This record gives sequence, C-alpha cells and structure tokens, in this order.
Amino acid sequence: MVPPRKAYGNGHLAFFRGFLRHPALIGSVIPSSRFLERRIIQAAGIAHSRSVVELGPGTGGTTRAILRALPRQAHLLAIEINPDFVNYLKAYPDPRLDVYLGSAEHIRSALETVNHTRPDAVVSGIPFSTMPAEAGRRILREIWCCLAPGGRFVAYQLMQSVAFLEPLLLGDPHVQLELLNVPPLRVYSWQKPA
Ligand SMILES: C[S@@+](CC[C@H](N)C(=O)[O-])C[C@H]1O[C@@H](n2cnc3c(N)ncnc32)[C@H](O)[C@@H]1O
Repeated sequence: MVPPRKAYGNGHLAFFRGFLRHPALIGSVIPSSRFLERRIIQAAGIAHSRSVVELGPGTGGTTRAILRALPRQAHLLAIEINPDFVNYLKAYPDPRLDVYLGSAEHIRSALETVNHTRPDAVVSGIPFSTMPAEAGRRILREIWCCLAPGGRFVAYQLMQSVAFLEPLLLGDPHVQLELLNVPPLRVYSWQKPA
C-alpha cells in the first residue's frame, strides 16, 4: 500500500542538507519535479514492469512516483550511497520496496541480497558527469549486464556524459528534454535487445 504523501513528508529539507554536505554526489539542490517524474515513469515503462531498480533515489520523490505506477505484484530495489537518505527511505512503508545502502557499482550483489529477478527497468538519477569516467563505465556495464532482455535503462541528467561513456555497448539513446524541472534535465533511454 502506498501511504499518502503527508505521512512520509516530501524530504526537500533533508535533500537540501544532503546537497550541502556532498554537492558532487547529489548533483541537484532540490528533488525532481513531478513533470520529470512523469517523464521518467513513462520512458521506463514502469506500469508494465515486474522488477525495477532505482539508482540514486535520494529522499524518495522519484521512488514514490515509481511505486505509484508500479503493478501490485512488482518489486522495486532502491540503491542509494548516502546513509542519511537510506534511513529516510527505509521509513517508507511499502512492502514492494527494498532499500540497499551502497554504490550503484554493486547493483548485482544488491539484487542477490534481496533475491530479485533481473530488472526490466533501471532508473538512474546518479550524476555520471561528476564521477570518474571509469566508475561511470563500470556502472553502465553492470546495469547492462543485469537488465533482462528487452529491458529499459533510463538516466535523467544535467550533463551529456552518460551518452558517451559506453556507446558501443548501449548504442544511441533516445533523448528527451524536461524543461519543467530545476534545473531542466535530459532523460536518456536505452532498450536492451530482446
Ligand atoms: C540528483 S539526486 C536524485 C534524487 C532523486 N532521485 C530525485 O530525482 O529527486 C542523485 C542521487 O544519487 C545518489 N548517488 C550518487 N552517486 C551514487 C552511486 N554511485 N550509487 C548510488 N547512489 C548514488 C546521491 O546520493 C543522490 O541521492
């Protein structure tokens, strides 16, 4: 059951505090807008997914949006590197949600820990532009390896680096621009061959 927004709080203050402590890791001053959330949900095909992984859920704005769209029997694994955000996310009472403290580089062991099947969608808000390129490549290779055949990978980003890190493996992304977000962001989507 998805609780009403009020019971959980919107997390904006906790998010801003997190940004002040780790600006490069967080990459944004405020959480994503509902317009961006909607675009991500559609691009990732959340409404017809059975297993979803979210990388960089922050204080859970996008997580809540995913859970609202996710079928009742499906699962969501949220992987977040910031322990304060993880504590925040763990207070969210939805049995479909598992929260893993660690880096997106460990997506495979995170999936094993919670016994999830290969995801048919991976949604990522982690800022690829502020991490070392080799770390970004490792994460992309892990995502691609874990995704189920025909699965979708969606990354919402300020900078374009994600599109140029593993072009031979992922191919050309479909790119959309969401202006109704602070700041406006691009949504990159790839689909793994079936
Ligand atoms: C731009 S915020 C996105 C927050 C939220 N999903 C939203 O849209 O409002 C990026 C998030 O990625 C997390 N992050 C950064 N690098 C990460 C990594 N390597 N693994 C997991 N999470 C990471 C940050 O701690 C932060 O919560």
